[in-house]
Amino acid sequence: MRAPVRRLPARGHYRLAIQPSEEPDLNQQQLQARAQELRHQYDAVCAQKLNLDLTRGKPCSEQLALSDALDGILAGDYRCADGSDSRNYGGIMGIPEARRFAADYLGTTPARTMVGGNSSLQFMYQIVTSALYHGVRGAASAWSREASAAGGRIKFLCPAPGYDRHFAICESLDIEMIPVAMTREGPDMDLIEALLKADPLIKGMWCVPKYANPDGVVYSDAVVARMAGLGRIAGANFRILWDNAYAEHHLVDNPPELANILTLSEAAGTLDNVYAIGSTSKITHAGAGIAFIASSEANLTSLADQLIIATIGPDKVNQLRHMRFLKDMPMLRGLMQQHRAILQPKFESLLNELDSGLAGKTVNGKALGKWTVPQGGYFVLFDTQPGLADIVVKLTAGAGVKLTPAGSTYPYRKDPGNTNIRLAPSFPSLQEIAAAMKIFVMCVELASIERALAQ
Ligand SMILES: Cc1ncc(COP(=O)(O)O)c(C=O)c1O
Repeated sequence: MRAPVRRLPARGHYRLAIQPSEEPDLNQQQLQARAQELRHQYDAVCAQKLNLDLTRGKPCSEQLALSDALDGILAGDYRCADGSDSRNYGGIMGIPEARRFAADYLGTTPARTMVGGNSSLQFMYQIVTSALYHGVRGAASAWSREASAAGGRIKFLCPAPGYDRHFAICESLDIEMIPVAMTREGPDMDLIEALLKADPLIKGMWCVPKYANPDGVVYSDAVVARMAGLGRIAGANFRILWDNAYAEHHLVDNPPELANILTLSEAAGTLDNVYAIGSTSKITHAGAGIAFIASSEANLTSLADQLIIATIGPDKVNQLRHMRFLKDMPMLRGLMQQHRAILQPKFESLLNELDSGLAGKTVNGKALGKWTVPQGGYFVLFDTQPGLADIVVKLTAGAGVKLTPAGSTYPYRKDPGNTNIRLAPSFPSLQEIAAAMKIFVMCVELASIERALAQ
């Protein structure tokens, strides 16, 4: 069996190109024998009643401990840079030093940033609900009004595969999701532009532009430039939710650069159409970080007018703790290198198991799977042969390895090819990853062979 060749395309969305095996395919009898052998192995693993988990992309305790100096860092000094007391009410836009930091992180000015609580997802939910019910510029611009006037539903463009919690926001608010295929450069922009031209009820779009969850794609400069032009097609009330959750989460030296959508949008006169979003959830403490957004000043004022109804202000003590700890971008990048030192061996272990277990193996001339080799972020995306993802997830669950449910990377959990499985190696230990991946590989082979035999 020949080693696989990694063809490295331009933008960091690396899929292994599986070379056909030099060995001839197994004949029917050999396939049967191999299936039997794998079934025996499978039953033996089931009997061990393992409990392994490759589901959610959350940091492990070792990563969280990198930021434990947050605890007690204020040492009784609660004064912000402008002299205000962080312990008190108010400050809906965030404390000045946190807005400065967020501006550097997202690539804009402090006046165009807002810093909030512990969750960027919550910010996104608030942006969408506020636009839906209260309008992006007052009640007359509420998406819901436009929908009822047109007798239709509000729609969002959803590059897919994508982040399941984005899709959950749409589903919970009865926003219709339109899946848009991802390419190695980002979403299919021809399709996006055509859809926007045809349907004025498309009011939003989700994007994870760097090390996308789950396929690791980094949007190309050309895609970002076209994104910045979408507001001119879609109109004043359209919003791109530019969720840059993994902006600094590199796994390689010389990481790819993402073009600055805020600068490009300003030049295109479409800054109102974009919200750039980030958080320190996978930088400091995942459940106790700070989240930030950047957009036009008018957008932030309009959002703040809504947020102030729900809260008198964010947790500014936590914002201050973060600023005393993180200080500036060079400091943050140093911390991210420490994260990388923990994460990279985990990704390597996962990829090595895929390489050694599946690369070059075929059944009836077809590769058993393909997978991404990301340059950053939290996920590896695996594609089974068509129609097998749900079977593989079920098999691995039976053998004690939890995987993200098949389909969850697509709107309405409908993966059209039933191939996508998202693998998240950050949380389990190296030993657990190796053990889980051996089982995964076995289940992929078993499912592929059993299907081939049944055909
Ligand atoms: C793309 C993306 N956005 C947002 C989040 C959640 O971020 P936060 O913890 O800031 O709400 C995640 C978490 O996995 C994510 O993958």
